[in-house]
Amino acid sequence: MAKIVGLSGSPRPEGNTDILVKEALKAAAALGLETEFVTLAGKDIQPCRACYGCREEGAQGKCAIDDDLPAIFERLKGADGIIIGSPVYFLSVTAQLKALFDRGLVLRYGKGRVKSRPGVRGGPEFLLTGKVGGAIAVAGSNGQQLTSLDILKWMIFQNMLVVGNGVDVGTNVSARGKGEVLKDKTALFHARSTGVRVAETVKALQRQ
Ligand SMILES: Cc1cc2nc3c(=O)[nH]c(=O)nc-3n(C[C@H](O)[C@H](O)[C@H](O)COP(=O)(O)O)c2cc1C
Repeated sequence: MAKIVGLSGSPRPEGNTDILVKEALKAAAALGLETEFVTLAGKDIQPCRACYGCREEGAQGKCAIDDDLPAIFERLKGADGIIIGSPVYFLSVTAQLKALFDRGLVLRYGKGRVKSRPGVRGGPEFLLTGKVGGAIAVAGSNGQQLTSLDILKWMIFQNMLVVGNGVDVGTNVSARGKGEVLKDKTALFHARSTGVRVAETVKALQRQ
């Protein structure tokens, strides 16, 4: 069965991002897909140290840093679709999610370095190639689109296929207090739309 992983980049458990990502996953599950929620809250995620160990021949997709991130990357590698949500922090993603993004360099060298190949750069050694991605961003007031675009840019750089939710580049909504987004029916609808869009695209690709 195809699988969608929803990743929340919020350090605040059960906050607005978690709620929206789970709502998107619920919609994907209703379409018959397996889903899994993954949070960065409380996880030890260190920033990239630029050792370039992941680019060395034989590294085979292994990062030199021993923390909670490799296990999270395993979840992403096992998914057919990935929905990433972040609270807006200074018009961008959280530090935890940015650390994951930078450490994602390792996902581009999972099968060693391919020195020459005709065609587009990034093939089977890019471990997220061809997975379907969607973005969710929630802010007190501003920066949702910029944040969704940060998420989608990372996905594009990983050779993923990105989708919106029918009305925007991602689910971009406003809420500040913990859990406040539960009162916003339109926000929850847009989150479900992201879940549906990712799930339907995964299913369409599997029919190919
Ligand atoms: C460090 C920090 C920076 C923030 N920066 C912004 C911002 O740039 N724009 C904004 O509208 N809200 C900003 N917020 C508010 C959060 O985006 C908002 O409370 C969001 O709902 C939090 O999501 P969560 O409940 O999933 O943690 C910031 C909050 C924090 C803690």
